[in-house]
Amino acid sequence: MSCRQCVCVKNIRYLVGVKKMTDCQGDGEGTNSPMEVYEKLTAQGEEVRALKTAKAEKAEIDAAVQLLLKLKVDYKQLTGQDYKAGCPPSETCVAPDNRPSADGANDEDTVDPWNVSTSNAKGVDYDKLIVRFGSSKIDQELVDRIEKVSGQKPHHFLRRGIFFSHRDMHQVLDAYEKHKSFYLYTGRGPSSDSMHVGHLIPFIFTKWLQDVFDIPLVIQLTDDEKYLWKDLTLEECHRYAVENAKDIIACGFDVNKTFIFSDLEYMGASPEFYRNVVKIQKHVTFNQVKGIFGFTDSDCIGKISFPAIQAAPSFSNSFPQIFKGRKDIQCLIPCAIDQDPYFRMTRDVAPRIGHPKPALLHSTFFPALQGAQTKMSASDANSSIFLTDTPKQIKNKVNKHAFSGGKDTVEEHRKYGGNPDVDVAFMYLTFFLEDDEQLEKIRQDYISGALLTGELKKLLIETLQPIISQHREQRKKVTDERVKHFMTPRPLNFNF
Ligand code: TYM
Repeated sequence: MSCRQCVCVKNIRYLVGVKKMTDCQGDGEGTNSPMEVYEKLTAQGEEVRALKTAKAEKAEIDAAVQLLLKLKVDYKQLTGQDYKAGCPPSETCVAPDNRPSADGANDEDTVDPWNVSTSNAKGVDYDKLIVRFGSSKIDQELVDRIEKVSGQKPHHFLRRGIFFSHRDMHQVLDAYEKHKSFYLYTGRGPSSDSMHVGHLIPFIFTKWLQDVFDIPLVIQLTDDEKYLWKDLTLEECHRYAVENAKDIIACGFDVNKTFIFSDLEYMGASPEFYRNVVKIQKHVTFNQVKGIFGFTDSDCIGKISFPAIQAAPSFSNSFPQIFKGRKDIQCLIPCAIDQDPYFRMTRDVAPRIGHPKPALLHSTFFPALQGAQTKMSASDANSSIFLTDTPKQIKNKVNKHAFSGGKDTVEEHRKYGGNPDVDVAFMYLTFFLEDDEQLEKIRQDYISGALLTGELKKLLIETLQPIISQHREQRKKVTDERVKHFMTPRPLNFNF
């Protein structure tokens, strides 16, 4: 029986389905998992609807409904959760992030890989997002533990809650304490030749993690993704990947510990990588990606299968040159929380194809200049400070566009004070001013009215200008040869 036949046998699908799905899957990678029962339920729901629409015989509809109810009971027994359409099982059983949450919690916040928006001037409600996405808060206990295990003062992104959410970080630390190493994976979708300051956040933090834990790092440049989503040619996307690699290298990564790759190059060059992509594709249905990413019937098939390509670097045997074919090395992914849908999907698939689930560290968003209702985004030049901006451009952008939490007149500001919680210049300082005491003094002075908006903006400009200028200097030193070295598949300085 072909694979297609085995999922299409009407009404007796469940009775024969478990066995037949096993036959179809062929490679013995798990049977009757919550995800499989979920898929059957989704298909059975569609069938009931189709029978009703077609005004089928009552007996036939009743039989289909009975089967649906039985599957729901099985699903509840297996997962402890009620079945919800569009909401895959396990930790991913949260509202698809591109739709309002089922419980009505914070309906206004949209967070997905393409859109971030909220009506709240303070930004996304990250505590509610943790509940919606089913991740865990990075609490003081975890920050202390990272300090203890790494022997280093926690990065200010951790101390200030900029990296605020995680999946399985305790597990990574448990293993590390037992001398079991892990590797880092992060990425960039090269949509233009210039990155903005918001893009630096995961890379700065990844560099810190690599330094304190001394572990390998792989960086994926999804030039294929940008070709599928944007009105760009393949050549442009690949050129942007190489240009963006220069910005990433300028963050200071060690070439002996870091492999940067473009999908358009590496997918064709590495059979092991492509094998993982295909395995992932076989274990995720169209229904699931529709639920997770909001794809529609008119999206091109490239988009629909792309999530498997972003998932594959989470599995160590995608890089045989680094991990010598081992598939058991745990992966840790630092990124902003907009990328989480990809990795919820990855974590569901991982155990079914014999890999550890990747762990994650999620950051908040670096806001747009106009306010924290949305993230800084390369597609809106006025919302962004680019890594190519000159000191003068930075000054003008901050003075002209940065949303202020100050009062309308100096007199009112002195009397009532400003609101740092909605002030973009203050928010940017929390990302880039390292001195905790100085930051707290600025906050207090702004609240009291002692510090005016113009003065706060000046402090930000003086903080940002040298950081961006230094980055530009470092970037100038990155030769084509150096990029090539980083992007050549090769062993790194680790023994696996
Ligand atoms: P991309 O290019 O949209 O973003 C690259 C990284 O930057 C983060 N990011 C931000 N962080 C803070 N504030 C912002 N305003 C902001 N905007 C973007 C993103 O979360 C991401 O970490 N599909 C991905 C590329 C990718 C990837 C990965 C990212 C492939 N594999 C693994 C992270 C981890 C993309 O287009 O990212």
